[in-house]
Amino acid sequence: MRNNFLRFYFFGVLTVVVVGALVAGGLYVAEMIEYPRQVPIPASTANLTAGARTYVADCSLCHGLAQRPLSNAARSVYPAPPQFFSHTDQLATGLLYFRIHKGLFLTAMPGFGASLSDNQIWQLALLLKNAGNLPPQAQSVLQSAPVSAVPTPGPQS
Ligand code: HEC
Repeated sequence: MRNNFLRFYFFGVLTVVVVGALVAGGLYVAEMIEYPRQVPIPASTANLTAGARTYVADCSLCHGLAQRPLSNAARSVYPAPPQFFSHTDQLATGLLYFRIHKGLFLTAMPGFGASLSDNQIWQLALLLKNAGNLPPQAQSVLQSAPVSAVPTPGPQS
């Protein structure tokens, strides 16, 4: 009786681990095969500044802004969103586009393919790719983001 329980438990856990690893591995491989290699728009001041505007509206809640604390929402999800604009992103621009478009399975990262245009998503990918080297126009959009993007003080602040 007890042995049977242990056996079921063992094979149950094993199945969950194996299926989970297969799904995660499959998604990763699909992403590496599918993401676009060509970037269709230039990293111009106009595109980076438009990307900054979309970022403030749709992304800063979770991914923050330079030199500001992450929002309470961002600090409350697991895995935590990376805080952008503290470094230049190492991912290929096409891979950034792909992740913003599709989202990340089983995380808080939403897919924006249905709510933003392709052009807007490319502008965001270029913005993140060039985060360390933005023109002043794009920087000023990020720096003058409304105060609502800053968290209210909570027990941990
Ligand atoms: C509701 C919260 C939330 C919002 C809104 C959000 N993200 Fe995310 N994002 C996340 C989380 C959480 C992760 C990390 C997932 C992980 O660690 O696997 C993430 C990961 C990413 C990644 C992958 C980073 C990497 O190194 O793999 C990119 C790129 C990204 N987000 C861009 C954006 C952009 C651009 C927007 C706005 C259009 C946005 N996100 C809006 C929560 C969010």
